[in-house]
Amino acid sequence: MPNIQNILKKVISYYLPPIYVVKKARTEGGQDARLVAYADKHSYLAEQYKVLRTNLYSLSPQAPFKTIVITSTQSQEGKTVTSCNLSYTLALDTEKKTLLIDTDLRRPTVHKLLGISRKPGISDILNGETALEDLIKKPVLGNLYVIPSGTLISSPTEFLSSAKLKEVINKLKSKFDYIVFDTPPVINVTDSCILGSICDAVLLVVREGTTPKNMVEECFTMLRHAQAKPKACILTDTTVPAYYSYLGRYRYYYKYKYRLQRR
Ligand SMILES: Nc1ncnc2c1ncn2[C@@H]1O[C@H](COP(=O)(O)OP(=O)(O)O)[C@@H](O)[C@H]1O
Ligand SMILES: [Mg+2]
Repeated sequence: MPNIQNILKKVISYYLPPIYVVKKARTEGGQDARLVAYADKHSYLAEQYKVLRTNLYSLSPQAPFKTIVITSTQSQEGKTVTSCNLSYTLALDTEKKTLLIDTDLRRPTVHKLLGISRKPGISDILNGETALEDLIKKPVLGNLYVIPSGTLISSPTEFLSSAKLKEVINKLKSKFDYIVFDTPPVINVTDSCILGSICDAVLLVVREGTTPKNMVEECFTMLRHAQAKPKACILTDTTVPAYYSYLGRYRYYYKYKYRLQRR
């Protein structure tokens, strides 16, 4: 049995108030406001993604994870929102090139969050007509590169376990410092187990108050059976602890600093 207690110590929590999403649906560049690390850079939420980035480094300081799978037990737990925000936050380091690939080929939504086109994308490597370089998009998000899901295909699992995809991922590994994969839920389909088996780390998104604990344990077991390496959980939809209220002041500090810079 995996030692869940130890794993859960690595939880990173953050809270995305729904009201925020309603208030400002899209940024000027067309990105969804839930891409909060970009849309509201100096917010408490954006800081939490930096905490996540730091904790990710500290999980393996000697050999940082290069290929990272984001998954969860079920749908609607925050995988895509987490994948996009984490990728953007990793890409803030201008010395590191980060690639986000939408490998949720069943319900792809990365392109919607980033305000880019779904096609061409990763599934289009199958027809061999589009060059790999043409699949890599660079939205106006710093050092972040993205490959969306591409043309819908009838057999995503077979595609994800194909030698062709492995070859492409190996090529991409030589070009990027980080590759983040957004994937479907573990319980429903085997896609994330397959990808997990060829990647350095799997991070399991757990939605507070929604994801049952026994399903988290089951997912860890399923991932381990598939030779994937589950490393930590990311807790989503949590409430902000009261002692964080000082962050209100922290935010003002940023605003103040900006005003000074603009003068
Ligand atoms: N940290 C969070 N806190 C609160 N709600 C969240 C959080 N992350 C995502 N959500 C919301 O949960 C829903 C599902 O998010 P999404 O990333 O699409 O989930 P998944 O990819 O797991 O299906 C969306 O409505 C999104 O706004
Ligand atoms: Mg999703």
